[in-house]
Amino acid sequence: MKILVTGGAGFIGSHTCLEMLQEGYEITVVDNLCNSKEEALIRVQAITGKPLTFHKVDLLDRQALEQVFASDSFDAVIHFAGLKAPGESVSIPLRYYQNNITGTINLLEVMAHYGVKSLVFSSSCTVYGEAKTVPIREDFPLGAINPYGRTKLMIEQILADLYTSDNSWDIALLRYFNPVGAHPSGRIGEDPQGIPNNLLPYVAQVAVGRLPELHVFGNDYPTPDGTCIRDYVHVVDLALGHLRALEKLQTHPGLVAYNLGTNRGHSVMEVIAAFEKACGHAIPHRVVERRPGDAAVSYADASKANRELGWRSEKSMDDICADMWRWQKNNPYGYS
Ligand code: NAD
Ligand code: UFG
Repeated sequence: MKILVTGGAGFIGSHTCLEMLQEGYEITVVDNLCNSKEEALIRVQAITGKPLTFHKVDLLDRQALEQVFASDSFDAVIHFAGLKAPGESVSIPLRYYQNNITGTINLLEVMAHYGVKSLVFSSSCTVYGEAKTVPIREDFPLGAINPYGRTKLMIEQILADLYTSDNSWDIALLRYFNPVGAHPSGRIGEDPQGIPNNLLPYVAQVAVGRLPELHVFGNDYPTPDGTCIRDYVHVVDLALGHLRALEKLQTHPGLVAYNLGTNRGHSVMEVIAAFEKACGHAIPHRVVERRPGDAAVSYADASKANRELGWRSEKSMDDICADMWRWQKNNPYGYS
């Protein structure tokens, strides 16, 4: 099968390309490299010993995208490309709407034109907004609390409208919880630009001495140790979820949504302790004010993905920290 992967040079995309090459898929990546490096794809090919095709293309460049479809034929598309920082999206909302929504509409129009109607879309648990209870199921009410989240929700709605208008589409919405970790080879991993927003990349950069200390955002939440609880899912498990979703699309399920998470949460303090175990030394940290907008507890009910895709997360928090530490230690400055 030939798969077009948008945003395939990014964190989750590169790990998914690796697993797909290993399972025998043929891959073409389009990415404008606005938040990634081509080096990730070079390493994916080195690790697997298999080639992929890369086009440096922006989804906003409709003509360039058309050329990719005109020059090849694809069985399905996995759509990772997008801007993803909730905080940044509050400062530059129009850029988020333009990039994520217009980019997706361009992609869908070109796909429809070339008769490619099988899509896996990178959604997020952010579409549940502030869920009232946990674990979070796919049938919970939807609602976003920042422009980034609204782009994800709007794209889900656009895809639902598209499917209503033409039910020959097959679309899997994958709602990721907190993707973390790195490939066990230590050769590809997350390479955030600037200061990381997310907990684990921050912890990893403190562990390697690139940042002085971690700020723990609040320890007065109603949780056992007072720090927030999240559902951290290893990126290799997440990558495999995309392969299972592609297989599901072969059965013509229509429009389907799945949570990809681990069914359990870890607190910030538990994450720090697990990383200290992995790297063998203390992670300097200090409790500061809460970060606005953080929910106390969020974790998935991922049983639907288990039932319908045969997928479940296999890797533990210890695996996550060991793999992230290997990546960070071997590549203290990421791909640069
Ligand atoms: P990433 O930034 O590492 O990867 C996204 C890729 O898309 C990058 O390589 C970037 O260069 C590319 N891109 C962005 N806009 C583009 C455009 N207009 N044209 C072409 N390429 C473009 O992010 P990631 O963590 O790998 O996330 C992948 C997807 O998963 C995103 O859609 C993100 O919103 C979603 N997601 C991520 C998380 C997370 O915490 N990492 C959680 C939930 C959902
Ligand atoms: N945290 C810290 N210090 C840091 C960074 C994070 O204490 O330096 C804490 C946060 O307060 C939170 C936890 O670590 O309690 C996890 O924070 P992340 O930023 O890693 O993850 P979030 O759950 O806040 O955000 C994730 C995705 C977003 C998505 C959101 C949806 O990164 O893209 O889930 O809820 F929008």
